[in-house]
Amino acid sequence: MRVDIISIFPEYFAPLDVSLVGKARERGILEIRLHQLRDWTRDVHKTVDDTPYGGGPGMVMKPEIWGEAIDAVISEGRSALGVPAGAPRMIVPTPSGRPFTQETAIEYADEPWLLFTPARYEGIDSRVAAEYGSRLRVDEVSIGDYVLAGGEAAVLVIVEAVGRLLPGVLGNARSVADDSFAPGPMANLLEGPVYTKPPVWRGHEVPEILLSGHHGKIARWRRDQALRRTLEKRPELVDRLDPAGLDKDDRKILAEFGTACGVSFRARPHDVAN
Ligand code: ADE
Repeated sequence: MRVDIISIFPEYFAPLDVSLVGKARERGILEIRLHQLRDWTRDVHKTVDDTPYGGGPGMVMKPEIWGEAIDAVISEGRSALGVPAGAPRMIVPTPSGRPFTQETAIEYADEPWLLFTPARYEGIDSRVAAEYGSRLRVDEVSIGDYVLAGGEAAVLVIVEAVGRLLPGVLGNARSVADDSFAPGPMANLLEGPVYTKPPVWRGHEVPEILLSGHHGKIARWRRDQALRRTLEKRPELVDRLDPAGLDKDDRKILAEFGTACGVSFRARPHDVAN
């Protein structure tokens, strides 16, 4: 996968040299190119922003600079990738975008080329998304309901979430399948607690069942823990559970522990029989 990032703070992305993403880059699974937006300015002050039309606080990033930068990065990428008509998926991080979720990460992991345009100040002149939206797939995405000082941290989050899904990046493919938000039997369930040696630490014991070697019982215990944790910490996720994926024991936990948490799981009619 190729990733281009245009920003006024390319140095912000130093963490992408480290750990899993850094290794994926070293191994050629992921190619990340950083670009300084100010390189496309023409004035001595390298100005990238201006006052907003209609008044109001803060500054807005100028469309001409972004337009030139994006055009140049796309044409450079096309030559490098040998795709004369290819286009990246453009991702604009903004608190007013659609929520970035594990589903979005999975979707992006299938793309050969992503282009990120993180903004500072009050954001980028809206005509930039409109202009490129008519030529490329442009996604305005938010990583959560809070406001960051700029989109750079959001790009780090998205690149890490996507990078770990690329084939060959994680040693153990199962760890992706077990992710809290991955599609499948554990979809929308938070992962339960995990333990390693020693069996007793500062008086805290590892749950006995995990030492039993009984795989069936361990799997059931883990699922119970996942259901309990979800009920406790993210009750709103319970409504998103697929009833067809729930067995009798799941429903028992949901009913008993859910009531204690003030959460009621409404089984759909077709699902009550099983
Ligand atoms: N830029 C500022 N806040 C953001 C957020 N929550 N998500 C994505 N980009 C942002």
